[in-house]
Parts: sequence; C-alpha cells; structure tokens
Amino acid sequence: MTANGAFLKTDRKFRLVQVGCGNMARRWVKYAAGRPDIELAALVDIHLPAAEALAREFGLDCPCYTDLGTAIRETGADLVFDVTIPQVHKTVVTTAVELGCDVIGEKPMAVSMADAYEIEEIVRRHGRRYAVMQNRRFARQIREARGLIAQGTIGKPSHATANFFLGPHFGGFRETMDHPLLLDMAIHTFDQARYLLQADPVSVYCHEFNPSHSWYAGNASAVCIFEMSDGSVFTYNGSWCAEGEPTSWQGDWRVVGSEGTLIWDGTNDSYCSVAEGHLGPGARMHAYKRVEPSAPWAGHEGHDGCFDEMLAALAEGRPAETDCSDNLKSMAMVFAAIESARSGEKVRIGPGQAYDRG
Ligand SMILES: NC(=O)c1ccc[n+]([C@@H]2O[C@H](COP(=O)([O-])OP(=O)(O)OC[C@H]3O[C@@H](n4cnc5c(N)ncnc54)[C@H](O)[C@@H]3O)[C@@H](O)[C@H]2O)c1
Repeated sequence: MTANGAFLKTDRKFRLVQVGCGNMARRWVKYAAGRPDIELAALVDIHLPAAEALAREFGLDCPCYTDLGTAIRETGADLVFDVTIPQVHKTVVTTAVELGCDVIGEKPMAVSMADAYEIEEIVRRHGRRYAVMQNRRFARQIREARGLIAQGTIGKPSHATANFFLGPHFGGFRETMDHPLLLDMAIHTFDQARYLLQADPVSVYCHEFNPSHSWYAGNASAVCIFEMSDGSVFTYNGSWCAEGEPTSWQGDWRVVGSEGTLIWDGTNDSYCSVAEGHLGPGARMHAYKRVEPSAPWAGHEGHDGCFDEMLAALAEGRPAETDCSDNLKSMAMVFAAIESARSGEKVRIGPGQAYDRG
C-alpha cells in the first residue's frame, strides 16, 4: 500500500474462497467486497446456514459449501481467507496450500507451537504464502509510536510495559479454551511489543492463573516478564475477567528509554515525555518536554491496514510484515509463556531452545 493509503496498482487478481462465516467473518467479507482486484468465489462454513446468511447479508450470489477442498477445486480459487476458530487453522491452511492457494488468516496461527512450526513448514514446502492478521499493530497510534521510538526520541528502550484489564463475557470458544487470554488475546499484545521495540523475545517468566470469580474454564489472567533481543525487558499484566474501569483493547503502554518515555494508553495519541536540559544545582528531577509524533500514519488502520499490507505483499511476491515465518516469533512468546506458567521456570526462546527451530 502507498503512504496515503491507496492500494498499489498491480496486475494480480485474486480468486477468493472465505472459510469461516461467524462473528469476525463480516469484517473480512466487507473488505474483500471493497477490493476491485478480489473476486469472492465462494463462502465455506461447516454450518452451511452461517455461510448462506453471510452471502445474503452482503448480497453475494457466490456458492456456499461445507467443505473447503471442494470449494477450492470447484471455483479454481487461488486465495483463501481463514476466519475459522483457532483449533482448525492448521487443517484449513494445510488444505488450502496443498490445493495451490495462498492464505490470509485470523490470529492465532495455531493452538500449539508444534502446529505453528508445522504449518510454516508446509506452507514453505508448497511454495505458497500464509500471512496472519495482526491488526493491532496497524493502529495509527502504534505506527506513530513506533516512529517516535525509531527516531530515537526516547533514546535506547530499556523497559516496556503493557497493562490489559477487561471483562468481556464472550460465550463461545474462548470460554472453553485452556489459555484464553494468552492464546486468543495476548498474541496481539506480544506482537505489538515486538513491533514497537523492533526486537524479538529471548526468555519469559510467566505466572498464569484463573481468579476464583472467573467465568472462563481456562486461565484468564497472566503476568509475564520477557527479556528481549535488544536488551530491554517487556512486562505484561493482563486479565480478561477484570470487571471495572477497562483499559483499551490495545493495552495501556509505557516504554522507558535512556532519554525519556513513550506513552500510549491505547485510545489517545501516543507521545513522548523527554528529559530537557541539564539538572540544575540541587535538582533531583529533570524538566520534561512533550514530543508529539512527527510522521503521521496515513495508511488504513486495524484490519484494513493489515489486509492492505498482506495483499500488497502477495501481489509483489514478498513476505508480508505479518508473514507466518515472522508470526512464529509472536507465537513463541505465547507458548513459552504457557510453558513457563506450567513449569514455574523461566523459559528461553533463543536459537536452539525449546521455542525456536534451533
Ligand atoms: N483480529 C481480531 O481482532 C479478532 C477478533 C475476534 C476474533 N478473531 C479471530 O477470528 C477467528 C474467528 O473468530 P469468530 O469470533 O468469528 O468465531 P466464531 O465462532 O463466531 O466463527 C467461527 C466460524 O467458523 C466455523 N468453522 C469452525 N470450524 C470450521 C471448519 N473446520 N470449516 C469451516 N468452518 C468452520 C464455525 O461454524 C463458525 O461459523 C478466531 O481465530 C479468532 O481468534 C480475531
């Protein structure tokens, strides 16, 4: 996508099958319907009425199927949008790439690290691309926050922290997952930390728990300490069963560097607070000046921004920013945190360690 948010002009046309026609699916169909280079060839859901209802809602006359393989073969599709539940992402991606399709799919990539590695290997072996929706790194404010850090506004980052406290009553698959917060939500926040710091995880210590008042079967709260490859420390403090005064879904962020601090509450514009001048005689604290972003993000935001990037990457024949090979590192943060919580030990994530291909 160009800097002003326009689609890149390429010759590639996409023949699309979307699989998964539940809650999030509308967002995906709406985007596809707005792209002149995408032809929506079929909708698929194991629950056929869900696919038919979605087709009706958007006035689509495409066929509906319950089986992805049949849909791809009968329509000659070359692209699959995977908006199914996490438990079936591996099956969907495998079916799609084996039938010659590229895939753009909802997070999380998989429900285990072994599955995530296997998916990435299968995609590579078939010479296809699979990019993952990490919409939260495409909020305008985090793109601008990243710009401030990249310009050196706060000096060298040493400590990033994100607070995430909400109490959503979803029903559905999340309330039966073993690790609903870490796997279905913290994947976003961990991916945002990698994006903000432009650094990868090295180790994690995690305490994951399910408060007695929780309405989730699995652990809905977690505290994590990550060491990152740039020497910084990222701490995460989160709960999905926290009633009262919710934080933003983007998290409430503070990144401390050698010269100052970046603040982003997930709702308002990000900014930096930077030490100014020299300490006067007897002074203990610097005066601070506020620094606003100087390079505004003009691209689309959220899902649309990530879609733009993933489709531009396909058209240009390059890996997307959120290609599955990159997303493995965010997934490793999730599964290493789960392993740390299980073992009570700090878990390493570097080369040759359990959470790296080595
Ligand atoms: N990026 C975000 O901000 C965000 C937000 C919400 C959900 N999500 C993700 O979107 C995905 C879908 O979530 P949702 O809330 O729409 O779930 P949902 O349960 O509402 O919908 C999932 C749909 O997939 C269908 N399905 C399940 N197994 C299938 C299979 N094998 N083949 C075909 N269809 C199948 C179900 O019948 C259902 O209609 C999840 O991975 C979730 O984590 C992402």
